[in-house]
Amino acid sequence: MTKIAFPENFKWGTATASYQIEGAIKQDGRGESIWDRFCEMPGNVLNRDTGEMAADHYNRYKEDVALMKELGHKAYRFSISWSRVLPTGRGEISEKGLDFYSNLVDELLANGIEPFATIYHWDLPQAIQDIGGWQNEATIEYFVEYCRVLYRKLGGRVKNWITLNEPYCTAMLGNFTGHHAPGIRDLGTALLVSYNVLRAHGAAVRLFREMNMEGEIGITINVTPTIPASERAQDKMAARYQDGFDNRWFLDPVLKGTFPADMIELYKSHGITLPDFKEGASICEKLDFLGINYYFSNTIRYNEYEWPLYAEAANDGGAYPAYTDRDWPIDPKAFKDILIRIKQEYDAPKIYITENGASYNDIVNVNGEVKDYGRIDYLHRHFEAIRGAIDFGVDIRGYFLWSFHDNFEWAFGYSSRFGIVFIDFETQKRTPKQSAYWYRDVIKNNGIA
Ligand code: BGC
Repeated sequence: MTKIAFPENFKWGTATASYQIEGAIKQDGRGESIWDRFCEMPGNVLNRDTGEMAADHYNRYKEDVALMKELGHKAYRFSISWSRVLPTGRGEISEKGLDFYSNLVDELLANGIEPFATIYHWDLPQAIQDIGGWQNEATIEYFVEYCRVLYRKLGGRVKNWITLNEPYCTAMLGNFTGHHAPGIRDLGTALLVSYNVLRAHGAAVRLFREMNMEGEIGITINVTPTIPASERAQDKMAARYQDGFDNRWFLDPVLKGTFPADMIELYKSHGITLPDFKEGASICEKLDFLGINYYFSNTIRYNEYEWPLYAEAANDGGAYPAYTDRDWPIDPKAFKDILIRIKQEYDAPKIYITENGASYNDIVNVNGEVKDYGRIDYLHRHFEAIRGAIDFGVDIRGYFLWSFHDNFEWAFGYSSRFGIVFIDFETQKRTPKQSAYWYRDVIKNNGIA
């Protein structure tokens, strides 16, 4: 049997995010976040679900870490809730909130699991949103002060830091499509937000260097490869714009210090007021690693009525051989290709896959098991893709499966299960799925036997 082997010391783990798993939104003085507020508004989240209980990880973290250990995990990527640490976003620190993360880190270390901390995974304190949120330049400074609190408290023990998770989602889903908190729908606002969050990233890296922190720092960017629906010039143009919107708009400033000129032209041609991106260079700080999140690709077709990119997704109608239960196309080849592209087009540092995984309508069967073969198949194909990229020379050092728990899947609420551990949201019972055992073997063999 062939074995897909991975490089020595490859870091295998899972990833989660604070609002999606912690619950305990009012416990120990946690302040309100934009997601609490967003969930209250009918129509924003399926079934009016909220993060109030989620996987109750705040109260069950020890049990969760023990299970991670049992399942052989070497590393764990979690995110820190800003409003748990600083309930109003700035000023007074909540020691209890900060202690939660300190205790979590100790628990991980005691169990031989390497912590990777994401500083910001979308849950901005509502008090900061109330004074303009990421539209307000001052938020960059508040973010830096929040980072300082974390570096001081967790520095030395946490050696891997991720400034932001998916700035694309913060900017575009939060402020252009309105599918995420704070639910604003304005492209100009979203572009300003993208500029400010990316500058906040740069500033957080600079502070890390100034404070001589031990360890490494990077950012997590989500990539969605775009594939023209045909050879037609218009489809190719639309795919290029979509790529500029989804991928280059974030990769370019972080890794090259400039925003893509074709996108600036396009936005200007629509009369959108843009910030003057003179501080592009302050975004492009030298990184120790780049985090990449990948789920699916988009097949793109030209549509003259689609504003502002003239692009629409043409993923249905059998464009792909298979889809997850979330109807996301399964396309491991595009994953390999974009990893190679990142190596070729950007002077990227070493890479961690900080998220990848699949949503299925899992059920616990009469024997108490979850036979999630679809997820195993998805993972297997994507591990092959990563191995292929490594063979090509892409320097990939680790993989964080999304996700450990079934969780609060943002606007989809609890309807979309991404975990390798099934959560019964009524009882909070944890049941490792078949994929969790399969993944345990992958980790043990450092590859697929
Ligand atoms: C996010 C996660 C999310 C996952 C699946 C990523 O965009 O970082 O928070 O749950 O995708 O949708």
